[in-house]
Amino acid sequence: MSAARSRLLQLTAAAFWLLSMFAAQTAVAQTPVQVSSPDGEIVVTVSDDSGNAQYKIDYRGEQLIAPSRLGMRFKDQEGFETNFEIVASEVASADETWEQPWGERRFVRDHHNELYVKFRAIDNPDRRFAVRFRLFDDGVGFRYEIGKQKKLGKVEITDELTQFSVGENTTSWSIPSGEFNRYEYIYSETPAGQVQDAHTPITFKKSSGVHFSIHEAALVNYSGMSLQRLRPGTFKAQLSRWSDGVLVKTKTPFVTPWRTIQISPDAKGLLNSDLILNLNEPNKLGDVSWVEPAKYVGIWWEMHIRDASWGMKPLHGATNENVKRYIDFAARNGFKGILVEGWNVGWDDNWFGNGKVFSFTTTYPDFDLAALAAYAEERGVRIIGHHETGGAATHYERQMEDAFALYEANGVRTVKTGYVADAGGIQRIDDKGVERFEWHDSQFMVNHHLNVVKAAAKYKIAINPHEPIKDTGLRRTYPNWIAREGARGQEFNAWGTPPNPPEHTAILPFTRMLAGPMDFTPGIFDLEPNKKPPVRDDMQRSDPSNRPQTTLAKQLALYIVLYSPIQMAADLPENYEKRPDAFQFIKDVPTDWEESIAIAGEIGDFVAFARKDRNSDDWYLGALTDEDTRELEISLDFLNQGQAYVAEIYRDGDNADWKTRPYDMIIEQRTVTADEIMTLPLAASGGAAVRFYPTSR
Ligand code: NOJ
Ligand code: CA
Repeated sequence: MSAARSRLLQLTAAAFWLLSMFAAQTAVAQTPVQVSSPDGEIVVTVSDDSGNAQYKIDYRGEQLIAPSRLGMRFKDQEGFETNFEIVASEVASADETWEQPWGERRFVRDHHNELYVKFRAIDNPDRRFAVRFRLFDDGVGFRYEIGKQKKLGKVEITDELTQFSVGENTTSWSIPSGEFNRYEYIYSETPAGQVQDAHTPITFKKSSGVHFSIHEAALVNYSGMSLQRLRPGTFKAQLSRWSDGVLVKTKTPFVTPWRTIQISPDAKGLLNSDLILNLNEPNKLGDVSWVEPAKYVGIWWEMHIRDASWGMKPLHGATNENVKRYIDFAARNGFKGILVEGWNVGWDDNWFGNGKVFSFTTTYPDFDLAALAAYAEERGVRIIGHHETGGAATHYERQMEDAFALYEANGVRTVKTGYVADAGGIQRIDDKGVERFEWHDSQFMVNHHLNVVKAAAKYKIAINPHEPIKDTGLRRTYPNWIAREGARGQEFNAWGTPPNPPEHTAILPFTRMLAGPMDFTPGIFDLEPNKKPPVRDDMQRSDPSNRPQTTLAKQLALYIVLYSPIQMAADLPENYEKRPDAFQFIKDVPTDWEESIAIAGEIGDFVAFARKDRNSDDWYLGALTDEDTRELEISLDFLNQGQAYVAEIYRDGDNADWKTRPYDMIIEQRTVTADEIMTLPLAASGGAAVRFYPTSR
């Protein structure tokens, strides 16, 4: 049974009524064809004017995407380009709710109307393609569906012609694509007409206040899409490529990833959208109770600030003694995981972009995996594994099963992977044994990451890739794909030059985070780490201007604002021990949520989220601002009516300022109810974090 058919069987009575109306319309198409979102606010129009397949999107009567092309080109074969007509279209509708094993909310509603449009070459009935549109109240997804057909078996895609005509004066927030540092760039706010090329998610704001964001969902066996400027304000899909220049190698029948446009009347509405997840297939792994959302600590920041090294030289971090110290700290403070980087042979060599030097099963002599795993287990803690590949993907694939088996035998349930190599520098060994260099967002890496995730699932291991392929919601299908990096994270505040600016975390929720969870690694308490004298002469620190450009309270707010089911307490144990009062919030905050609500926000200015714990009646609130001080008035109407709560508030003090008084923080308790408005004063690059628990607990 096709997915569409099984969906139809689950329709509610109301949707059946809609369906019967639609069924009457299923016929040889009169063009253009149209469909609207369940609430009627979004309208997609598909046409074949002058033989060109095109779509456009209107929202509340305003044109968001002007008529934009559809189609693709193939190597050595005729593609789907000009001279096509719409020959039929079908509509359908669905309204169902599904449950996430973990996530920012337990239940997700998938309510959409669908339009399936069949195109055929005017002069050759054998050449056909279809485009499926799904319209939700929070946006649109569409994908190409290419059936089996005469003379089209194996195909090599040389261009995807999809365009997005957004208007040159539309404000945009984006990072460049095709640059060496992959997705790790500072966001720019510019008119869309000035964007040359950009990774997705790229987010836009119309002068009407309407916001929308372009990305993709279910990126499987295809290459990643970025946007390339065709004309100012008009972008085309730019697919990453193989080393031989082909963009995608596939065969009919196939479907492309969904091209997505999330739409909201305001900025915060984007943050409440489940569109990307709804366009992914349901869980294929079955019982995933072994995937454990949790907080973790680790041997990590000390390498980034040069207190220690990954390799044996100059000063090894992952020693038995040091790992035990972290395990004790984790056990004392209720952390379930301890990440250990620099445990395996290879770091001493020239590994950056050259991971062939790594063994994933041979430990350094001063790191005893079995003994440490046992030590951790006795204390209710698990080691979090680490596989830095230096971008040597084939080399890693050859070892990964053994590596996962070793970790599984030692109680490891989560592995962080890494692909530190310049973009375009991923090493692949081809069938003939020849070394090729591939892109991090190529079809090769899209497939590699999924191979790793599927292999890890056999060993009940969850994967958290750094320098990853971007997230397109595949955690729904493979819930052991637990988080990833894919943006500038906290590490840039150790050595970034420049570090992340104050507005960075006020932009991430509206861009990178729309794709899915990020392993940002919040919670740095020593906000000027590079001011400390070096531990040794041969371990000079980075420039002191590299530091988190935030207040202490903002570091706490990040645990709520930047969603991830695994959250690191990234700083050194001694820095937490110096500030036990602020540390209490990190100890308390959960990482798995029953519900999440974006309450307020403007891109690059401020943002506030409320989230309800999945395992208690507690609510949490996180708010942060850019370099400007501001006061947020937050309605507490998310709390249960008629219930009194203790609010434990961690907020910037009256003189707080990220540059001059970053540690000025007030911790206070109040009894509150859902009827109140809470005023939160935020300092320059400040924040607030609040825990609410019922007084009747
Ligand atoms: C880059 C990752 O983002 C970082 O977290 C890790 O410590 C280093 N690579 C080394 O693997
Ligand atoms: Ca990184």
